[in-house]
Amino acid sequence: MSGTSDARPLLAAEAVVAGYEPGLPIVHGASLAVAAGEILAVLGPNGAGKSTLVKALAGLVPVSRGTVRLDGRDITGLPAHLRPRAGLAFVPQTENIFASLSVADNLRIACDVMPDRPRGRARTAELLDLFPDLARARTLLAGRLSGGQRQMLAVARALVASPRVLMLDEPSAGLSPLFVSDVFARLRTIRDTGVAIVLVEQNVRAALKVADRALVLVEGRNRHEGPAKTLADDPAIAALYLGGAPHSSGSPA
Ligand SMILES: Nc1ncnc2c1ncn2[C@@H]1O[C@H](COP(=O)(O)OP(=O)(O)OP(=O)(O)O)[C@@H](O)[C@H]1O
Ligand SMILES: [Mg+2]
Repeated sequence: MSGTSDARPLLAAEAVVAGYEPGLPIVHGASLAVAAGEILAVLGPNGAGKSTLVKALAGLVPVSRGTVRLDGRDITGLPAHLRPRAGLAFVPQTENIFASLSVADNLRIACDVMPDRPRGRARTAELLDLFPDLARARTLLAGRLSGGQRQMLAVARALVASPRVLMLDEPSAGLSPLFVSDVFARLRTIRDTGVAIVLVEQNVRAALKVADRALVLVEGRNRHEGPAKTLADDPAIAALYLGGAPHSSGSPA
């Protein structure tokens, strides 16, 4: 099922215009769609509006035109705090955990804001199986975790509510390559449980490896779009975002 774009999208944004100040849009009519069990990478240069777009989808930046639908329901005007329980979770790039609280308390807080706390607690137990590092670090302050473990905690916090759509803003930022593969491997596992994932990334190569489809945003508009494999092999994309030649498994002799 992964890799299909024909399936009905779980999250669909159409011609979204969004920005921080009235009359000064940053996102100029961008569209995206992601289906269950699919990872969509959102790529593009610095300042392209990737973070603004996902923040708009999370309800944290006002949308002045266009629509956002979650499983067919129009959520364009739904307040941000009601989106997680509607099934849409967002992991921002920074300040996505409480550094001065323990790992366990970070997860407990995520449960406490849910309407169905017992379900959140049951889900937390499952998540500690999925993230054994977090289980081992349960009593540690989150601020003492490694960068990779912090990202895992941020993802786990978002998963407590059993979202159908998970959006992440640069989960690989500041991580060593080993941690990047670790975090991305977990995203694949989460996708395979049927969650739709929107992955904003600067790490284009790694993102195209994990994603099923990708969207390149330039100046707040869709520029390229397609299967991740096709984009990874596209010389135009390579020249723009991958530092020259398309990726290859071996180097010329
Ligand atoms: N809180 C804010 N208030 C006003 N303008 C902002 C704010 N955050 C970002 N911007 C502006 O919006 C534009 C797009 O920024 P955005 O963070 O969405 O880009 P991005 O594609 O995520 O870039 P990067 O790859 O550097 O993370 C930039 O010109 C930026 O200065
Ligand atoms: Mg950004």
